[in-house]
Amino acid sequence: MQFGVVTLFPEALMGIVEAGVVGRAIRDGKVDVFTESPRSHAHDKHRTVDDRPFGGGPGMVMTPQPTMDAIGTLRQRLPKAKVVYLTPQGSVFNQAAATRFSQAESVILLCGRYEGIDERIIDSAVDEEVSLGDFVLSGGEVAAAAVIDSVSRLVPGVLGHPESASQDSFAASGWLDCPHYTRPEIFNGMAVPPVLMSGDHKAIALWRRQQALTRTRLRRPELIQSSALTPADRALLKKIESEDF
Ligand code: ADE
Repeated sequence: MQFGVVTLFPEALMGIVEAGVVGRAIRDGKVDVFTESPRSHAHDKHRTVDDRPFGGGPGMVMTPQPTMDAIGTLRQRLPKAKVVYLTPQGSVFNQAAATRFSQAESVILLCGRYEGIDERIIDSAVDEEVSLGDFVLSGGEVAAAAVIDSVSRLVPGVLGHPESASQDSFAASGWLDCPHYTRPEIFNGMAVPPVLMSGDHKAIALWRRQQALTRTRLRRPELIQSSALTPADRALLKKIESEDF
């Protein structure tokens, strides 16, 4: 999987993605991340990439030419890539979008800074706008790093254990994850739930499902789509609901 990233802060982006699992995938050649800075395509003495907004108002807007040229440079290397702009105006990124991106050969991520980018860049070069959520970041780099991380872990061979990605939150059921425990058995007087020490794999699987469903129901009830529940999940949900009263 190949990512191109248009960013004014390539070192900041690479600092995040070169750590941990994604860093190993880059070193193993399973994931490539190419950055291109609009600054390298600014031709004036000060390498200007932004200007005041027409119509007035605070902040600066990224000008079209340096950013378009940076996209163009990445396009030569990644001709089939869709261009995704990271912005709070986009549709909210989720596991389904991560899965969809992971099925592409390549994607170009466009990071804005300042108040945003000139709308004509979006009109002429952007295929999709994506947001991390309903909050404002100072720039798209943190969002691009999150997209690269979540997409890369879905690329075959990137995670050590083949089942790891399918066991993640959201992966199979779209629910939140269950709690996890490791040694010691007792920490500060808090014991590991006995079922996890029982060796009864069926009981453990049922407990994990019940925990995941309970958490999801409490914290993110909108994620439980009753149409997608199996009869066993439906029974589990009924049991959890009855225990509430
Ligand atoms: N850039 C600024 N804010 C953002 C957000 N919430 N999601 C993605 N990109 C952003």
